[in-house]
Amino acid sequence: MYAITGATGNTGSVIAAKLLGRGEKVRVIGRHANRLEGFVEKGAEAFVADLTDAAALTRAFAGAKSVYAMIPPSPSAPDVRAYQERVSDALAAAIQGAGVGHAVVLSSVGADKPDKTGPVVGLHNLEQKLNSIAGLNALYVRAGYFMENLLPQIAVIQNFGLLGGPLRADLPVAMIATLDIGDWAAEKLLGLGFIGKQARELLGQRDLNYHEVASVIGRAISRPTLAYTQLLPQLIKAGLVQSGMSSSMADLILEMSEALNSGYMAPLEPRSAQNTTNTSIETFVAQEFVPRFTGKAAEG
Ligand SMILES: NC(=O)c1ccc[n+]([C@@H]2O[C@H](COP(=O)([O-])OP(=O)(O)OC[C@H]3O[C@@H](n4cnc5c(N)ncnc54)[C@H](OP(=O)(O)O)[C@@H]3O)[C@@H](O)[C@H]2O)c1
Repeated sequence: MYAITGATGNTGSVIAAKLLGRGEKVRVIGRHANRLEGFVEKGAEAFVADLTDAAALTRAFAGAKSVYAMIPPSPSAPDVRAYQERVSDALAAAIQGAGVGHAVVLSSVGADKPDKTGPVVGLHNLEQKLNSIAGLNALYVRAGYFMENLLPQIAVIQNFGLLGGPLRADLPVAMIATLDIGDWAAEKLLGLGFIGKQARELLGQRDLNYHEVASVIGRAISRPTLAYTQLLPQLIKAGLVQSGMSSSMADLILEMSEALNSGYMAPLEPRSAQNTTNTSIETFVAQEFVPRFTGKAAEG
């Protein structure tokens, strides 16, 4: 049996669906039974647990041959780093307590660094905590920048007619669709071919800068002059807080952006067939961005 945390989310839902499609026994973990129903209809067992609750998580992992472990984002938490530590403590305690043999763990490019990478510090610490569990085989998926990070730009385009953010416009970024991460992680769970503790980067289809992203989106939404502007940190923070993010999360995003802009946070592996995945920005924009953009436009 495979236990999947974050099963209703971007990566977890892809993994759960793929394992169920292969006829595997799957336990899907989330906070609300109703959100897990779709998987139950396909044969999964639902387990309601909060990932900060080590005792519940230990029960959720009991009997699992392997686990997909991740720290869900909590963008409105008053202290996001403290929340991440609570989740990683609970994950480590549950993996150890339930005697889990194999774990595929969602991490990030930059998780090699112990500090100054914003939310990625929490993923570094998760890796460290799992490293101390003897007998655990763990595969850390150090994924690039999610293409899903582009979706909040829909509101920015609709309100200001541009793309805006903290990253340098010419900074090459390894951007990946979460579908690709889920697919890859599911294959690793099915194969169970990893031994000891290993980190592997996943860098998406190609590196992209925000100039290129703006031109792909602009073409797809028939605004060929759409451009990206790097915005001042104070402006970004105000916008993020106004959209419901805690001040703590906004500060972490700005710290991570600085780490990306300076090159401190960057892939360690050269791009290769092993760390390159299929979904291009053009496909992501056509399949995920444009329908939401059009939907929002119709609403407004
Ligand atoms: N954004 C990036 O560029 C990037 C890059 C590399 C790595 N990452 C990392 O990727 C992770 C996010 O992955 P994702 O996008 O797959 O996640 P996600 O879709 O944002 O969330 C996964 C699921 O977690 C569940 N959840 C939320 N809080 C929970 C809690 N306290 N207890 C139990 N379940 C909870 C939610 O489901 P329910 O509501 O059903 O409970 C949610 O659907 C983060 O650790 C992030 O740091 C992000």
